[in-house]
Amino acid sequence: MPVDLEKILRPVDNPFAPYPPKVVALATGQPMVIRQVDRDDIPDLLPHVEPLLHHERDYYDVVAARVYSELLGHYKYRYQDQYVLVGQIDGHLAAIVNGRFVNKKLGMSLHTLAMHRGLRVGAHCFAAKMEYHIDIVGQDEVLVVAESPIGFRRWMIEYQLEKRYEVPHELGGVPSYALTRALFDKARGSLIVGKRPVSAALLNKAQAGILPPTDPPKAAPDFLAATRSVYDSTGTARIRKGKGGERHA
Ligand SMILES: CC(C)(COP(=O)(O)OP(=O)(O)OC[C@H]1O[C@@H](n2cnc3c(N)ncnc32)[C@H](O)[C@@H]1OP(=O)(O)O)[C@@H](O)C(=O)NCCC(=O)NCCS
Repeated sequence: MPVDLEKILRPVDNPFAPYPPKVVALATGQPMVIRQVDRDDIPDLLPHVEPLLHHERDYYDVVAARVYSELLGHYKYRYQDQYVLVGQIDGHLAAIVNGRFVNKKLGMSLHTLAMHRGLRVGAHCFAAKMEYHIDIVGQDEVLVVAESPIGFRRWMIEYQLEKRYEVPHELGGVPSYALTRALFDKARGSLIVGKRPVSAALLNKAQAGILPPTDPPKAAPDFLAATRSVYDSTGTARIRKGKGGERHA
């Protein structure tokens, strides 16, 4: 008897209320729209995550690799109860955040990836996902971990997250921290900001298409490139790892 294996492999998502879009005024005065995207939008996000796999600074490589895998898994129906929110400035992608609903009462924060530095776009989008779990879905708490020192400063320290060290987090099995409803309430109006409804003009612009990040994180300039080019008449040498792990052109 033929078996439709896809029916077994594909998890069936539980119904959760959608995240209502909001707009946050950034320090520059620019409005950033934060909204939920659908599975069908994932192919528009992946090309902007991929280059960050090779960006070693601030743990972008680790986080981008994990986000890529989670988004692809979500797109191909290999992830249970995942949601994805994006921050867009004038249509351009500024940040991606995702998470998962473990059950009705417990949320699992997955990742925050800022694609425009220095404006707290990551912090605002992280706040939006906490809002999704606590205010919109009505969960009691969200398990959080940090992969980078900046993440630790932004989440554990700014929100004063509680230790849940006895609970291994889904991200690498490391000890968890928790954002509780009480901590969320304390952060309302300071860390958690934004307005609803989003004006039709702003929302239409955001929904019209996910435009590329305007100033994505890039590798620092290589000031020695000119010196090395003396030995590279073709001008095509790339930095690569030597046998001993040292880098040379
Ligand atoms: C963690 C993260 C989401 C925070 O995003 P954010 O709130 O928008 O903050 P930024 O990354 O722009 O800035 C964080 C700090 O780095 C500084 N910074 C570092 N590089 C910078 C750059 N190129 N331009 C501007 N600021 C920079 C900022 O001044 C800021 O300092 P502050 O904390 O005193 O305000 C973001 O740094 C990120 O995506 N990092 C890589 C992935 C990651 O670690 N994700 C979280 C996993 S727990």
